[in-house]
Amino acid sequence: MTSPEFRATLGRSWRLLGDFRHEQDDPDRFYGSLAQDSAAQVSSYADLTGARLLDVGGGPGYFADAFAARGATYVPLDADAGELALHGREPGPRTVIGDGTSLPFADGAFDVTYSSNVAEHVRHPWAMADEMVRVTSPGGLLFLSYTLWYGPWGGHETSPWHFLGGGRAAERYARTHGHRPKNDFDVSLFRTTAGRGAAWARSAERRGLLREVRLVPRYLPVWAGFVASVPGLREVACWNLAIVGRRRP
Ligand SMILES: C[S@@+](CC[C@H](N)C(=O)[O-])C[C@H]1O[C@@H](n2cnc3c(N)ncnc32)[C@H](O)[C@@H]1O
Repeated sequence: MTSPEFRATLGRSWRLLGDFRHEQDDPDRFYGSLAQDSAAQVSSYADLTGARLLDVGGGPGYFADAFAARGATYVPLDADAGELALHGREPGPRTVIGDGTSLPFADGAFDVTYSSNVAEHVRHPWAMADEMVRVTSPGGLLFLSYTLWYGPWGGHETSPWHFLGGGRAAERYARTHGHRPKNDFDVSLFRTTAGRGAAWARSAERRGLLREVRLVPRYLPVWAGFVASVPGLREVACWNLAIVGRRRP
């Protein structure tokens, strides 16, 4: 049975926005809250009890606690061992170091494949999406969510200057802070749009890989869901787009 308690209300969006402001000064609050919310959101699409769940680009382990609390067998994969140990966290059991664009797992190995805020850091995000589909079991759930380049947080710590160009925003950050941004344009942060995600989702349907595909503005209230289907508007208003679909047998 899927989780009945997840409600994408305006209050929930407001709460998340408040927590986002504490990413730097209180990472436990920020990541803990995002992880709880994500686990509840994913549970609204699939029963996680006993599910084998792959988290591509899982980062420092907050999602492990949240998904395990819902009964999933959580397998994090990340390209960077340093990220797994951020904020004093210890890598959990089953942690795999690897590249999301070339997953070291058999076809259909997971009931749920999940990725949060990773695709925008990957040069070939749609190759990663294809890999996630490949390792999802028939009937299993894919939930791939990423920060949109033209949204208010698209440039990450270089925002809002990214609106004037990613390279220029990174240069400006380097001048101001005396070092390059961690999320450096065209190195570790790419111009990942909703349009490209929507095109990938359509192609996955056409190729017979996914069904019941939905584009969901991840942090917005349910009544604002329509913005994900409006080209142009969705790039700036969605903030973060989740592509949700079920693996075809
Ligand atoms: C912004 S963090 C997101 C962490 C967590 N998923 C979240 O939503 O808070 C991005 C993560 O993606 C990882 N990553 C970047 N490129 C990757 C790749 N090609 N394959 C796997 N992980 C990758 C990074 O090491 C980092 O841990």
